Amino acid sequence: ILKEINLLPDQLIMTQSVQLVHSWVVQCLMDILEFQDKSPNDPRVLAEFVDTLVTIRNRHNDVVPTMAQGVIEYRDAFGADPLTSQNIQYFLDRFYMNRISIRMLINQHTLIFDGSTNPGHPSSIGCIDSCCDVTNIISDAYECAKMLCEQYYFGSPELELREINAKNKSQPIEISYVPSHLYHMVFELFKNAMRATIENHETSSTLPPIKVMVALGGEDLSIKISDRGGGVPFRKIDRLFSYMYSTAPRPTIGDHQRTPMAGFGYGLPISRLYARYFQGDLQLYPMEGYGTDAVIQLKALSLDSVEKLPVFNQTALRHYKFNQEADDWCVPSKEPLNLAAYKAAK
Ligand SMILES: Nc1ncnc2c1ncn2[C@@H]1O[C@H](COP(=O)(O)OP(=O)(O)OP(=O)(O)O)[C@@H](O)[C@H]1O
Ligand SMILES: *[C@@H]1O[C@H](CO)[C@@H](O)[C@H](O)[C@H]1NC(C)=O
Ligand SMILES: *[C@@H]1O[C@H](CO)[C@@H](O)[C@H](O)[C@H]1NC(C)=O
Ligand SMILES: [Mg+2]
Repeated sequence: ILKEINLLPDQLIMTQSVQLVHSWVVQCLMDILEFQDKSPNDPRVLAEFVDTLVTIRNRHNDVVPTMAQGVIEYRDAFGADPLTSQNIQYFLDRFYMNRISIRMLINQHTLIFDGSTNPGHPSSIGCIDSCCDVTNIISDAYECAKMLCEQYYFGSPELELREINAKNKSQPIEISYVPSHLYHMVFELFKNAMRATIENHETSSTLPPIKVMVALGGEDLSIKISDRGGGVPFRKIDRLFSYMYSTAPRPTIGDHQRTPMAGFGYGLPISRLYARYFQGDLQLYPMEGYGTDAVIQLKALSLDSVEKLPVFNQTALRHYKFNQEADDWCVPSKEPLNLAAYKAAK
């Protein structure tokens, strides 16, 4: 990651925010290197290691808003040409994926080496729940989003939840997963669906419900969250997953008092990373004028749910150097007439 940071535009690296994040990453590496010659069998070393991990985790708490601040500063000062936007998007996807992974490992280590088992959750090993109750988490996330929504809008759409367990009709839907990751994704999708529903029904007296369908098959667990918030034009889909775009008023950094309903515009891209981290995905299917279906696909089998991580090699380097592959489709009416090339080709 340190190598990849250096491939970002100089003016972005030089912002105070990115310098700060850079210094945290360097410090984290230094802290870990301290342990390379120490014995992992010494209980004192282990205890010290856990302390170091906790320190690192806390130091990195504000990485996302700090990095976002740097990107906003850069965008406002220099704008963004296509190659730069593509590189920032590519970098941040990898940077945040790395962060998801490292934080998950730190949580796992500190929970396991804490020694105490969680009596409320006998099926949990650290932060992984081998029988993660999917509909339960969806309901919890809905309730929390609803509370937030009511603070902002003095109303909220109802939830209609249906589930089908195709593997065993009489059983609740359970998969092996990290509950906090699943919660994060559906919570973000609920906030978006609620905001869209309310803003699209300002003049009507009733709000259409948010409909959720959960299906478990032999390979996939799918969650579809459907709202009637009016959707967005299909052309804008890529923008919604961009780290440089949000339609919400900008929140102020360091305001931990109120979790905003909508903020930096990181809800969708980060949620998609959580889904992809264990080989799943998250997609949006808008029907402009009506509403949006947001679909989360996860691997139902723990054997398929393996970590996905960025590696820095020649392939990655090429991504930073070249613009997305030149197109091989054209819109004839928009092409300049190039008779010379046409004759040469003939
Ligand atoms: N269900 C939806 N219906 C209509 N528009 C949506 C929906 N979900 C997302 N959007 C649009 O996509 C944009 C990006 O969503 P995203 O969740 O990434 O960021 P945000 O909601 O603006 O801020 P936050 O980071 O707090 O989530 C939103 O600002 C909104 O305009
Ligand atoms: C479905 O669940 C029931 C109740 O737990 C159990 O008795 C049955 O064996 C399960 N069937 C299959 C095919 O797993
Ligand atoms: C980069 O790493 C990925 C994953 O290990 C691999 O698939 C790819 O071939 C590598 N690229 C090069 C040029 O070595
Ligand atoms: Mg959002």
